[in-house]
Amino acid sequence: MILISPSILSSDFANLAREVGAIADGGADLVHVDVMDGHFVPNITIGVPVVASLKKVSALPLDVHLMISDPLFYTPAFLKAGSDMITFHLESGSDVSKTIDAIRSGGAKAGVALKPATPAEAVFPYLDRLDMVLVMTVEPGFGGQSFMADMLPKIEAVRAECLRRGLSVDIQVDGGIDPKTAPLVAKAGANVLVAGSAVFKHEDYAEPIAAIRQAAVE
Ligand code: DX5
Ligand code: ZN
Repeated sequence: MILISPSILSSDFANLAREVGAIADGGADLVHVDVMDGHFVPNITIGVPVVASLKKVSALPLDVHLMISDPLFYTPAFLKAGSDMITFHLESGSDVSKTIDAIRSGGAKAGVALKPATPAEAVFPYLDRLDMVLVMTVEPGFGGQSFMADMLPKIEAVRAECLRRGLSVDIQVDGGIDPKTAPLVAKAGANVLVAGSAVFKHEDYAEPIAAIRQAAVE
């Protein structure tokens, strides 16, 4: 099953309630919230208070992508704000096992994200305790970048290891996903597709959401 998680990084921040309502009406499955701290990545975006406000107005689960240093320290705050899924970076500096435990014991789904330079094998020790692996298909930090096709073997490697171990872990991809790249990542084994600019550049969000989903299942 393919899930579409539009990244509100490319939405109108002055009208976030309207934007999350519009993607829900447009058929999205999740709301992807990009949290950046200006330290782990060279950009600053959304923080805890905005996640808490989004929680009050979103009909869809909040898929929170932490691009921050020390996600373990901030996990309690993002749980309290109402995050339904929290994905943090393997490269973030926090103890990976402790962070997974903190997220899951707080009642949210846990994901680990891999930057383009991090190999698939780095996440294998944690696979059986993860709900999701996020394979970044751009360098984290900004929307609107070009898809890195050389990440496809990494998606395949994570999917193959999950199958080998009988694990039904979600594989998310984030960066440059549109109706052209969606079939490539889906074929490689991804099932949760994040799309920012490809969704929000349209007037009617239902159109790109359906087009990406359709392209992924074909
Ligand atoms: C990048 C973010 C992405 C970004 C994707 O660091 O994690 O979620 O918004 O944007 P597009 O789909 O435009 O590449
Ligand atoms: Zn993201």
